[in-house]
Amino acid sequence: MAERISVPLDAAPIPLSIFGLGYVGSVSAGCFASRGHGVVGVDPQQIKVDLINEGKAPIVEEGLDGLLRDAVACGRLRATTDHLDAIANSDLSMVCVGTPSRENGSLNIDNLVQVCRQIGEGLRRKDAYHVIVIRSTILPGTMREVIQPTLEEASGKRAGGDFGLANNPEFLREGTAVRDFREPPKTVIGAIDDRTGEIVQRLYAGIDAPLIRTSIEVGEMVKYADNAWHALKVVFANEVGNIAKAMGIDSHEVMDIFCQDTKLNLSPTYLRPGFAFGGSCLPKDVRALTYKARTLDVEVPVLNAILPSNARQVERALQRIQSKGIRRVGVLGFSFKAGTDDLRESPQVELIERLIGKGYDLRLYDPNVRMAKLMGANRQYILKVIPHISELMVDRVEEVLDHAELVVLGNNDARLHDIAHRLKADQIFVDLVRVPDRGNLADRYDGINW
Ligand SMILES: NC(=O)c1ccc[n+]([C@@H]2O[C@H](COP(=O)([O-])OP(=O)(O)OC[C@H]3O[C@@H](n4cnc5c(N)ncnc54)[C@H](O)[C@@H]3O)[C@@H](O)[C@H]2O)c1
Repeated sequence: MAERISVPLDAAPIPLSIFGLGYVGSVSAGCFASRGHGVVGVDPQQIKVDLINEGKAPIVEEGLDGLLRDAVACGRLRATTDHLDAIANSDLSMVCVGTPSRENGSLNIDNLVQVCRQIGEGLRRKDAYHVIVIRSTILPGTMREVIQPTLEEASGKRAGGDFGLANNPEFLREGTAVRDFREPPKTVIGAIDDRTGEIVQRLYAGIDAPLIRTSIEVGEMVKYADNAWHALKVVFANEVGNIAKAMGIDSHEVMDIFCQDTKLNLSPTYLRPGFAFGGSCLPKDVRALTYKARTLDVEVPVLNAILPSNARQVERALQRIQSKGIRRVGVLGFSFKAGTDDLRESPQVELIERLIGKGYDLRLYDPNVRMAKLMGANRQYILKVIPHISELMVDRVEEVLDHAELVVLGNNDARLHDIAHRLKADQIFVDLVRVPDRGNLADRYDGINW
């Protein structure tokens, strides 16, 4: 689990080398030097090295020239093209080389691999413990599958025991990079072991931002979740704006109001991976908005992708169940969310219908959906629209457990949270909600996307 840490303000400075003096590397060099760390910058481009040594920024970035000038003047920063000099004269190397896209969209990590070989060569000649921190943006798996083996092969040493390895993704934005360095939204350190994590966090002493220690893989993935989210926010706002303009509505006033909602809109709500959304509002309203856009000739590819993506999540749950190769299934919780008996557009009901269609033998239970208690519109809905489902509904959890080889938890009703402990010895549990207590089911437990 990610751990939030507070770093003592007076942590000792660390001699560090920074590989790659582009946007991220030169800002990091200036900023870490200004915080008291001794920095050696490394870049194969002599022009960048010369500029840094003259105290000049190799990029245009507000505030950076002054930082570099002061850091060079007080002897805390120098640059070189010689990677061996840099490794020999630092305790920690931070890698900030570019990881551009190839034509097919894949990530080009050639420079990163080359730098790992160079660092490995430096480590081979060095006895002291050294930490390598990857700041470049890399896809999950790159640290373990490429960086660690490359460093180990080139150095003849072992990550973890002989040298430290971590990633520490960069969240700065060009144009406000120096300010973002000083006031980052967060600092994330994914470390191979505690020793490494503790050294890396010393770099951030005195920076007033959440510092989160986590695994290497989570550290890698967080950066992509962040950037995909930022990109999604931009195109979402643009598509809403495009529809608004076509209807003569001020898009900025709409989004100003939207942004004032920090409970449902700009908040962790709806940002937990899990099952599909449903209910009587979201599907209907997304459908109506995208239909309206169509009639206005406004293209909204992202909004149009919402319902198909949601349908894929039902398909995914179905695949999880099918993969177990059993026939008798119990579903616990099938209203679209806990705390309601509303079954309209419940994706759990959609899943049940798909299972019925495939010949599964089902029993269903939901604490809020009991035929004897149902009244009004929902009773009519069940009897008229999904009568085949009412026949499978039972009144007690035990009836589901007595029947099923596999139990699906469909919604997050707290009365079902102990379910892992109520299963029989050979029953499989497919969890669509991430129940807080999974018991000791080991490989009999399967979460939809965790
Ligand atoms: N630019 C940003 O705003 C930003 C923000 C967050 C993360 N990132 C990520 O940080 C990484 C670096 O991005 P950037 O924009 O600073 O790249 P950049 O292209 O500006 O700089 C990369 C530098 O690495 C140098 N380099 C190449 N091979 C080297 C080697 N063997 N040894 C030392 N230096 C070498 C290059 O000469 C260049 O100066 C990328 O993975 C990027 O995705 C960038």
